Amino acid sequence: MGAAVKIAPSMLSSDFANLASETERMIQFGADWLHMDIMHRHFVPNLTIGAPVIESLRKNTKAYLDCHLMVTNPIDYVEPLSKAGASGFTFHVEVSKENWKEIIQRIKLGGMRPGVALKPQTAIEEVFPMVESENPVELVLVMTVEPGFGGQKFMPEMMDKVRKLRRKFPSLDIEVDGGLGPSTIDMAAAAGANCIVAGSSVFGSADPAQVISELRKSVQEAQEIN
Ligand code: DX5
Ligand code: ZN
Repeated sequence: MGAAVKIAPSMLSSDFANLASETERMIQFGADWLHMDIMHRHFVPNLTIGAPVIESLRKNTKAYLDCHLMVTNPIDYVEPLSKAGASGFTFHVEVSKENWKEIIQRIKLGGMRPGVALKPQTAIEEVFPMVESENPVELVLVMTVEPGFGGQKFMPEMMDKVRKLRRKFPSLDIEVDGGLGPSTIDMAAAAGANCIVAGSSVFGSADPAQVISELRKSVQEAQEIN
């Protein structure tokens, strides 16, 4: 038995004008988590949503809101997102070398689950101390595209990172994000990922429920083999 499978549609690919009904639809289609991409232009060349949108959404759903912070100052977002009702808070290692212990502590105090993300250029070893810490992150998000936009091509060379992590931390939540869909899931599943973010492949499909179920099946089958 591996770590629990979580399929997390990325709401970045949803119709933002109808976010509440889009989230409801995804839960009905079998999503476990809803992946919320919080981007600010200083970290990525895009700008999306922040705590006010999470707060409005929380009034409409009980779902697990898996927030991915693509910002240069994650600590400033901890309190607003906690108050807004975020569930998971995943910050980037590249911008938290000095204060990750404090960030993790504040995330937990705010009742959220801490995670750390890394960009394609960042070595996986950089997150090991955060997983091994006495107050650890509970999820590692391995970016499989350059952060910033949906609809990019999956980078298979990132699977080395996932394999190394899985070997070292058998029950850790390992999330992959970027370019995941029916044609790439088997690589991520075989490497040991158990939390799967998928934006364009889910929202771009005529049958999102089928895509979600295919993703889940692939991870479950890989876990049975390993
Ligand atoms: C990219 C975001 C992703 C993105 C994934 O920076 O972190 O969550 O929405 O979208 P797809 O699945 O289309 O690559
Ligand atoms: Zn993301």
